[in-house]
Amino acid sequence: MCGIVGAYLSGEPCLAALVEGLRTLEYRGYDSVGVGVVLDGRLVVRRKAGRIEELERELSDGALAAATIGIGHSRWATHGAVTDANAHPHLDWKGRVALVHNGILENYLELRAELERRGIPLRSQTDTECLAHWIGIELEGTDGDLAEAVRRALRRVHGYYAIAALAGGARPQLVVSREGPPLCVGHSAAGAWLASDPLALVPHTREVVFLEDGDVAELAPGKLVVTRRDGTPLARRPVHVDWKAEAADRGGFEHFMLKEIHEQPDVVARALFGRVEADDVRFEGELFGDAALRGVERVVISACGTALHAGLVARYLIEGLARVPVDVDFASEFRYRQPVLSPGTLALGISQSGETADTLAALRLARSLGCRQAALCNAVGSTMVRESEAAILLQAGPEIGVASTKAFLAMLVASVLFAVRLGRARGTLALAEARTLLGELGRMRMNLERLLAREVVEGIRALAERHKDQRGFLFLGRGINYPIALEGALKLKEISYLHAEGYPAGEMKHGPIAMIDRQMTTFVIAARDSVASKVRSNIEQIRARGGPVVCVGDDEESLAVADERIVVPGLSPWLSPIANVVPLQLFAYHVALARGCDIDKPRNLAKSVTVE
Ligand code: F6R
Repeated sequence: MCGIVGAYLSGEPCLAALVEGLRTLEYRGYDSVGVGVVLDGRLVVRRKAGRIEELERELSDGALAAATIGIGHSRWATHGAVTDANAHPHLDWKGRVALVHNGILENYLELRAELERRGIPLRSQTDTECLAHWIGIELEGTDGDLAEAVRRALRRVHGYYAIAALAGGARPQLVVSREGPPLCVGHSAAGAWLASDPLALVPHTREVVFLEDGDVAELAPGKLVVTRRDGTPLARRPVHVDWKAEAADRGGFEHFMLKEIHEQPDVVARALFGRVEADDVRFEGELFGDAALRGVERVVISACGTALHAGLVARYLIEGLARVPVDVDFASEFRYRQPVLSPGTLALGISQSGETADTLAALRLARSLGCRQAALCNAVGSTMVRESEAAILLQAGPEIGVASTKAFLAMLVASVLFAVRLGRARGTLALAEARTLLGELGRMRMNLERLLAREVVEGIRALAERHKDQRGFLFLGRGINYPIALEGALKLKEISYLHAEGYPAGEMKHGPIAMIDRQMTTFVIAARDSVASKVRSNIEQIRARGGPVVCVGDDEESLAVADERIVVPGLSPWLSPIANVVPLQLFAYHVALARGCDIDKPRNLAKSVTVE
């Protein structure tokens, strides 16, 4: 949800670093892009509605090439349409401050009215421009000290923000702050950098400082001064970030999404690495030890979107293997519905980014009600990981494709590991069963490689070609594979814009069956489990009404009665979601490709939803 970057280099031009950083963060928003730099002491802004290529055309005259200090922004519109005027950076009315912003200023109408009363001309419909003017106003009373002006201006603001402010003059200043959305910085003698995501910093430094809510920091080469909004100095330690810079390129694949789908065998291996013993699982932290887990009376999972689907799978695993009751909730609902929580409740947040506003709020609510909390999260230094008592890191590596694939798979693997740990700690999972499950998980990498073999992928591509013009799609699953039906439908909707619905197979007769005809393809996920024969009957019922059925799974009899099939290697039903989701990801990808959709930048979506 908007990406911000900045660079202050000692002597080197900064434009390449800004554009490269924006390209890395483009997944966060891609409505408009812009940069602001200091050139001969003056602020110069170039910004455009559209993709980064538009900005590069704007910059091709070389006029900004000598600048060594600048900020940049990639926008996902919240206030104001997608126009050049609403693109960031925004300047204050005297052109002394340039500002980029990710978030929402909730009292911006009030700020706007006050600016209008003071006769300050407003040139855009954005909340950000209002803050740029307020910083400009405060600059007049602080003798040109940008950090103090930012602190004072922010005391007037309510809302969520990560900002970078740049002032020109003989001594340029670069100041950042956050309240809500993520922001990290790094510095060395060669320069100082800032970004919404550490991925944009790793080409420059691996020692990354993750700013906390309320921090205001001034940056320059070799310098980082952090204070609270009231000016109290603070010490912030850097964290070493291990991610490889190459993780942010497509590595020969046509899209990030396809690359990330193909990374999944490695993702499983990484999620297991160092955690699996012969018949148990080891996680860092007292919360995952026997004593603490024996005290867990109930688990409450909060998440959004794809992560919520992982939470639904986790419910089956935790209840089935550890016999602990589990509730799973949309974080956006949980946070507003006055949940009843007792101290024996473990609140579990699941998130790829660790920055999703609703999921963070849900965990904070659980904490305020006395629950212990843990995170299943991919982003190492994210707010969720820092705020939670304990975290299981997914270790999937950076996920750039807007439609989540490999992070979901890692969430499923982590959920199995957590359920096994809980089951072993509580004595509900027999040693032999734990050993069998973990052994099979160890072979999962090989099974996924088989699913991603060229001939299988080619078969799915051809299937997508045959079904790409259907009126709609129904995805059915039952038991632990019901959430996989939801995920298959979500993937298809997100990137192909076709209507798709995920449903529990047993519910089909209570409504969705009315939609069945030749133009409605139904995917049925059929694992060899206790409900296999019932799912098989669903296939017969759909076919009897003329609806084409594609069966995905390892239940041979279901596969045999469907019109078309994708055979998945035979697995324990507990692990079947991990494999069953892969063909559905590939199907969504190939339908979107065949329909000419922009797969890595689907319309209206942003990867990280840091506002409500
Ligand atoms: C779907 C997708 C979204 C995210 C959701 C939560 O492909 O990516 O539905 O799953 O926005 O994001 P995280 O996991 O970052 O909390």
